[in-house]
Amino acid sequence: MHAQTQERLIQPAIGISGSLRLPGDKSISHRYAMLGAFAEGTSRFTNFSTGADCASTLVCMSQLGATVEKIGEGAIEVTGVGGKVQTSNATLDCGNSGSTMRMLSGLLAAQEGRFSLIGDASLSRRPMGRIQKPLELMGARLTLSEGHAPLTLFGGPLKAIDFTTPVPSAQVKSCVLLAGLQTAGETTVREAIRTRDHSELALRAFGATLSRTIDSVSIAGPQQLHAIEAEVPGDISSAAFFLAAATLFPGSTLIIDYLGLNPTRAALLDVLAALGAQVQVLHIEEKHSELIGTVRITSPEEGLGSTEISGSNAAQLIDELPVLAAIAPYTSGGIRIRDAKELRVKESDRIALVAKNLRAMGAEVEEFEDGLDVPGGQRLHGATIDTGGDHRIAMAFSVAALRASGETLIQGAESAAISFPEFFDLLDQVAVR
Ligand code: S3P
Repeated sequence: MHAQTQERLIQPAIGISGSLRLPGDKSISHRYAMLGAFAEGTSRFTNFSTGADCASTLVCMSQLGATVEKIGEGAIEVTGVGGKVQTSNATLDCGNSGSTMRMLSGLLAAQEGRFSLIGDASLSRRPMGRIQKPLELMGARLTLSEGHAPLTLFGGPLKAIDFTTPVPSAQVKSCVLLAGLQTAGETTVREAIRTRDHSELALRAFGATLSRTIDSVSIAGPQQLHAIEAEVPGDISSAAFFLAAATLFPGSTLIIDYLGLNPTRAALLDVLAALGAQVQVLHIEEKHSELIGTVRITSPEEGLGSTEISGSNAAQLIDELPVLAAIAPYTSGGIRIRDAKELRVKESDRIALVAKNLRAMGAEVEEFEDGLDVPGGQRLHGATIDTGGDHRIAMAFSVAALRASGETLIQGAESAAISFPEFFDLLDQVAVR
């Protein structure tokens, strides 16, 4: 059971207004930290994620011999180990972070030694068999406890494989690519549904060569990485809470600046537009192949319509589904979510917790193995929210609370800091009350 320590009271709002610039994307920060720590030379990152998850990655990388130094607000300098970690026996605490555990396993599988990767109670319930299989095919040995962490990895020289991911998972893809980076021959990962491609872009930014087709990526190893300087784009999965909040109040306008708009991450903007919001990209630029832009969202005067999210869209929106479900009762026609079974094995069972908390607020919702039906045209009331220690549940229901009648108590509100410690302060800044 997660100890839920901090509570946060959310008062209803009458609108959302203002402009924001958000801390760096969690997925990109993990990758820049890991690759910078593995590369030759000293990398500098600004607007690095402020979340606890990326801090877990940094701590693990320092244990492996990298030097991490804070050089300013959101700015770090990482001096890498030049392709060889400096310990052959380490216990690495990945905290709450699935990305850390799965990607780091790939990086370490090709390193000589025995590495134990542990995590908190939530991470120790999440499936790790999905990385065990490809890494063992490559020749590493990995032991789990009934498919879960603690994970012990016996690494060493590997052989290249051609692997098809069994579930849409950027973490699994990245795990195999990081092992392939260090392995003679060509390692290929195929995926039926295209997942976020930050690892591919980051590997190239650090100097690696890889080739891509529509549904595969190949890397011929071994290759050496070289340090870079980068400003991490704002996290679109964090922005999702504010963009969704803005759509709840007819006429509300919000601007988010320097926001990551990688096409494999930006499907949210299409969904909000499909619901009737006016979404404008005011500026766009590219840094290290990541798209970054300024987005203005204006909520429709007539309120939100309805939409369905399924198939590859469900995989691309996986982190945004809780907040979309949480605003769905306020649409006119509801939101239907399918093909999102992966939501059940995130930091919590997000399908079950979304349904439970919507019901606590008085909403009708139907739960399916792979999704939810949330009818529109509903009125919600304030309630006590069980976040299950899951950051995205805490933030999603803080957004739903803005249009409920009465106040809402978010239990375990501290979990927001896993990805977004500034969330509640920024919500107070843009909420009009
Ligand atoms: C992530 C991939 C997704 C996502 C997670 C971050 C990444 O997980 O839910 O928040 O950075 O690669 P899966 O790869 O398990 O789908």
